[in-house]
Amino acid sequence: MNNLIADIDIISGEEAQACDFKTTVDENTGKTRKLYIESYGCAMNFADSEIVASIMKEGGFDTTSDFYQADVIFLNTCSIREKAEQTVRKRLTDFNRAKRNKPEMTIGVLGCMAERLKERLLEEEKIVDIVVGPDAYRDLPNLLSVAEDGQKAVNTFLSREETYADISPVRLNSNGITAFISIMRGCDNMCSFCVVPFTRGRERSRDPYSIVAEARDLFSQGYKEVTLLGQNVDSYKWSPEENNKARLNKKEDEVTAVVNFANLLEMVALVDPALRIRFSTSHPKDITDEVLYTMKKYDNICKYIHLPAQSGNSRVLEMMNRTYDRAWYLERVSKIREVLGEECGISSDMITGFCSETEEEHLDTLSLMDLVQFDFSYMFFYSERPGTLAAKKYADDIPLEVKKRRLSEVIAKQSALSHERNKLDLGKEQLILVEGVSKKSAEDFKGRNSANKVVIVPKGNYTLGDYLKVKIIDCTPATLFGEVIEINPKH
Ligand code: SAH
Ligand code: SF4
Ligand code: F3S
Repeated sequence: MNNLIADIDIISGEEAQACDFKTTVDENTGKTRKLYIESYGCAMNFADSEIVASIMKEGGFDTTSDFYQADVIFLNTCSIREKAEQTVRKRLTDFNRAKRNKPEMTIGVLGCMAERLKERLLEEEKIVDIVVGPDAYRDLPNLLSVAEDGQKAVNTFLSREETYADISPVRLNSNGITAFISIMRGCDNMCSFCVVPFTRGRERSRDPYSIVAEARDLFSQGYKEVTLLGQNVDSYKWSPEENNKARLNKKEDEVTAVVNFANLLEMVALVDPALRIRFSTSHPKDITDEVLYTMKKYDNICKYIHLPAQSGNSRVLEMMNRTYDRAWYLERVSKIREVLGEECGISSDMITGFCSETEEEHLDTLSLMDLVQFDFSYMFFYSERPGTLAAKKYADDIPLEVKKRRLSEVIAKQSALSHERNKLDLGKEQLILVEGVSKKSAEDFKGRNSANKVVIVPKGNYTLGDYLKVKIIDCTPATLFGEVIEINPKH
């Protein structure tokens, strides 16, 4: 799920690594020390940085956007592809320069790369003082004081229970309109190419009442859209028996039934009709008809599903251990179309050049893309990750130039499909939520329609957080352009 950056529609693996990071902003609430966090990887990592900022705030830190001013620098890292780790190592050399001017500065590596490499990271990167895995952030104040005493500090314990349910994230880089809410952690799927089960540990779901409370709180602060996050949201499951120990502030009148993802979606949709709900990522093996019907029932649940296929060939899918085949994937897409119609946005992740993938099998990926007509995709060439099932069982035998050529074919296909899909929107009236100024023109706002497509409109007298009914008048493969018909129509 490297995937929720609002206005990057089509990215290749390499581009994603080059541009896909976020930093903290300047904040001054009178704390004495400054924290700089730079976050890489998926939306879950960005959401984790907001938890880290909250824990550090309690410990006396405001955030800064300038790492030279920081007392503590945290790099929240990603291990998904080799390139992601290389980027982090390069960044550490920049931080080394800052530390030379300010030797008392503490540098911590957080997240998936910390979890994967553990103590080894301290040996390999001498400037690192603290190594902390994704389930150990509550220990940060303690690790920091160890580091300030001049020792190295490591905690990469993976938990079966930790969901940080009681921590109110400090919103970083926020537009004040859209926010992420983590609903679960970890992943039990063991796709053979993927490092996430090793870096994030076992799957666990967060208390639904804490999720609804967070959504309500965001709405009361003026937020208009929440995205529910998990590596596999369709396997969200919370039951009082299993999770009671972790429950906080249990109220007498709460329902005690098992809550599945469809139930959770409904609970969040009921917070307010003016709060939009999105979610990511859906797994083709787990997405249920019940989820689709719940989406249909509520206008404020956006009609968009990120449903990574990874490959269009059943043999490759089996080697990837995705536990579905091409026919299953296509059936799920038909069901989406049947319940939610042609306008529902569907996007995918694709990997080219997985172990032993033949040219014909690669063509199956291209033909699957044609059949589904994805609105957009995040596309990568296969990068072998140490310790994964694929690294143990299969040879990484597709030459790099072949992986890259196949990737460029997949990207070209997606670009053409995105353009075709966007053209279907021409002349249509759609509801968008205004969430920022257009990157290309200060005179324009950008918003997104229900299907998650970026729509550019002239600024007019509108403000961030307005819902606008627009008519789509033009498009490129990546963007729609609209003219405003009505402001804040009734929900
Ligand atoms: N949980 C999500 C994906 C998380 S990782 C899911 O199951 O779909 C985001 C994407 O990175 C994956 O969908 C996959 O396309 C890509 N990816 C993961 N491991 C990779 C690897 N070793 N090489 C290349 N791409 C990879
Ligand atoms: Fe990785 Fe598969 Fe889990 Fe996604 S579902 S995080 S690809 S193991
Ligand atoms: Fe996310 Fe990267 Fe970890 S994609 S879960 S930060 S390996």
